[in-house]
Amino acid sequence: MNINLKSKLGRVSLNNPVLVAAGTFGFGEEYAKLIDLNKLGGIVTKTVTLEPREGNPPPRLAGTPAGLLNAIGLENPGIDVFLEEKLSFLSQFEARLIVNIAGEEEEDYLTLAKRLSEKEKIDALEINISCPNVKERGLAFGTDPERTFSLVKKLSEVTNIPLIIKLTPNVTDISEIAQAAEEAGAEALSLINTVLGMSIDVETRKPQLGNITGGLSGPAIRPIAIRMVRDVFQKVSLPIIGMGGITCSEDALEFILAGASAVAVGTANFVDSRTAPGIVEGIKEYMQRKGVENFEDLIGWLENST
Ligand SMILES: Cc1cc2nc3c(=O)[nH]c(=O)nc-3n(C[C@H](O)[C@H](O)[C@H](O)COP(=O)(O)O)c2cc1C
Repeated sequence: MNINLKSKLGRVSLNNPVLVAAGTFGFGEEYAKLIDLNKLGGIVTKTVTLEPREGNPPPRLAGTPAGLLNAIGLENPGIDVFLEEKLSFLSQFEARLIVNIAGEEEEDYLTLAKRLSEKEKIDALEINISCPNVKERGLAFGTDPERTFSLVKKLSEVTNIPLIIKLTPNVTDISEIAQAAEEAGAEALSLINTVLGMSIDVETRKPQLGNITGGLSGPAIRPIAIRMVRDVFQKVSLPIIGMGGITCSEDALEFILAGASAVAVGTANFVDSRTAPGIVEGIKEYMQRKGVENFEDLIGWLENST
């Protein structure tokens, strides 16, 4: 059987549906020494902001029984360094290049999008409107459908690069935000970003994180993410990149059956850098076993439980 792993996120065609998630893969340089980046469907960069950011005070990571609590706070070298030092390296691979951006004001996002539009080789922008670790403003856009609509609309007027909107689970109804992004001209959606959390050291009676609260990622959040992907898939017609606790091909397939057109591996990259390429192989084996030739036939291929 001739297995076809190609998938599409609007105008962006992927050689395979397995990406790596923002902030867990840096700008690819370290991982390129460990795995063949050409085997990935796409690379999503660490969030890039206009100015360099140092991020939050330490400690910025805390382990939990089935996940990781982080409050990095969007540490990154800023757009100038990204364009001068990181972009050409990332452009050399077959994997689609998705640059993740964030700002504090609408204007920041628009400036970033315009500057990135001058460059070739960027296949899509992932718009981070969902970071829980930036004081006050991180979630300002992603928890408000009107602000989401306004931002995405303005972005679509200043750039022709496909826009993927990254949604936060820290809302009552994620599909409302997804619909606003769709109406405003988004090309695809990424979900989910981390789930707001907190943990405490009972001996010192201090929060485990310098920022007090952080974002929970890893297997603990997978059922939340699966539920949200299914919900958005039923209400919105945009392609979805599903993420949240993916560690192996079975995890990835859960997202795909729930309606994701692609998946992204995040925290698991820290455990084993070979996770994402291994998932590509695992999906292929599943398709062979199920007699499915085209990956796109798997998307939303969910049976009712009754
Ligand atoms: C240490 C760390 C840093 C992250 N940094 C970013 C970031 O810069 N931008 C972003 O959009 N998401 C960021 N995320 C969120 C991930 O991209 C992903 O949405 C989330 O972790 C869920 O996937 P996972 O459970 O597979 O990690 C970060 C996650 C972690 C664990």
